[in-house]
Amino acid sequence: MQAVIDYLNQSQDRFIQELCDYVRFPSVSAQPNHKQDLANCAEWLRQRCERIGLQTRLWPTAGNPVIVASTPSGPKRPRFLVYGHYDVQPPEPFELWKSPPFEPRIEGRNLFARGVCDNKGQHLAHLAAVEAYLTTGTPLPCDLVFLIEGEEEVGSKHLAQFLEEHREELACDAVVISDNGIPSLKHPALTYALRGIMALEVIIHGPSRDLHSGIYGGSVDNPAMALAQMLAKLRDKNGRIAVPGFYDAVAPLSKYERKQLARLPYNANQFRKFLRVPKLFGEKGYTAIEQRCARPTIEINGLTSGYQGEGSKTIVPAWARAKLTFRLVPNQKPAQIQRLVAKQLKKLCPPTVRMEIKSGHGGDPYIVSPTGPHAQGALRALKQAFGYEPVLMREGGSIPIVNDFKKCLGSDTLLLGLSLPDDNAHSPNEKFNLDCYHRGMLMSAHLWREMSKA
Ligand code: BES
Ligand code: MN
Repeated sequence: MQAVIDYLNQSQDRFIQELCDYVRFPSVSAQPNHKQDLANCAEWLRQRCERIGLQTRLWPTAGNPVIVASTPSGPKRPRFLVYGHYDVQPPEPFELWKSPPFEPRIEGRNLFARGVCDNKGQHLAHLAAVEAYLTTGTPLPCDLVFLIEGEEEVGSKHLAQFLEEHREELACDAVVISDNGIPSLKHPALTYALRGIMALEVIIHGPSRDLHSGIYGGSVDNPAMALAQMLAKLRDKNGRIAVPGFYDAVAPLSKYERKQLARLPYNANQFRKFLRVPKLFGEKGYTAIEQRCARPTIEINGLTSGYQGEGSKTIVPAWARAKLTFRLVPNQKPAQIQRLVAKQLKKLCPPTVRMEIKSGHGGDPYIVSPTGPHAQGALRALKQAFGYEPVLMREGGSIPIVNDFKKCLGSDTLLLGLSLPDDNAHSPNEKFNLDCYHRGMLMSAHLWREMSKA
């Protein structure tokens, strides 16, 4: 084992260079013009896996290719799957980046680039650990298979079917994902729950074309106003979602969980300053930590109507559109929530306009017991790598595919994130802390031994 640790310590500069090469690919899955960049990025990763001795295949799908890379299998022993994604969020708005998003820049202990923490750096840390085992000839206590996809940021559309088709190849005792965060380097964490998601678009149609607001305004409804009024009624002043039945399936937080979540470091004033909001907001009766990881929400992600250009234009717009997402918690179901929301929107929609609802992607919330033997092994590995007692936490983000791992492979997922709260995932100036990168490699090295003891 010492040989593995020494190898990781000695190769730090090269691993940083590799991460720089990896983030140069603008693998933006939401934008069709980047299709070739995604393919090139996947090919780079395939070569990276192959070079260290993994049996690697690049599988085409109806969308972007999936990489499956396995360690040479040993005698009968546990098998774990590491999941990650090489696609990234759109970098826009460009003008807010201090340096171009796909030209990596190192400042102090931070590496800046789109996708560097979400999720390229995080799964590259796991690959580095395997490389250390294989190159130093240190026997692995388990078999490992890496599954790295290119459509996570757009809802993993083709991965569930891929799992079905490759069930045997992907069979494993547990799944490990580092695609989330920790509160700080002094608070390594095991995350045992994720929120689910339900996305939809509401389009309000008014007149067949934009109209002169002086000539017609007052006699026809304004779709932007109608939409604004409808949306405003979806959340009450206590931060609760005003959709009948919305909370029916929500499992209440146990005393134990509330106590664990209260152990996480949190300072309201610092948090507020970090986010630069005049005042924090949230559902009454819950702490900010509970609000952002264990309670459901409604968000307006985008709101468009009428004239957006410079200067003024006097019109009644023909339409208005909002993109909504709801973050869900156990045991809410996206399809059921969608029905309830659609029903309420129909009720709220005035007869003066026509409403169209487009359903978007969805994902179930996830929760697993943090007391099982794999989880306990992971906690030991965290302590060894970070040198601090790990915390147990839930996360507010969503990784819908974890439910398919459970359904299709029968395996539980442990979330061992490496990103920090100020890493700017999905925002301009995304970064990854190089200490997190290195500690992540050490964690991965310890993890396989500790989890194999289970
Ligand atoms: N890595 C995130 C999810 C995440 C972030 C989990 C922080 C836990 C903590 C992932 O890449 C992501 O952003 N997922 C999307 C999923 C959606 C497109 C279905 C999300 O949560 O918005
Ligand atoms: Mn991610």
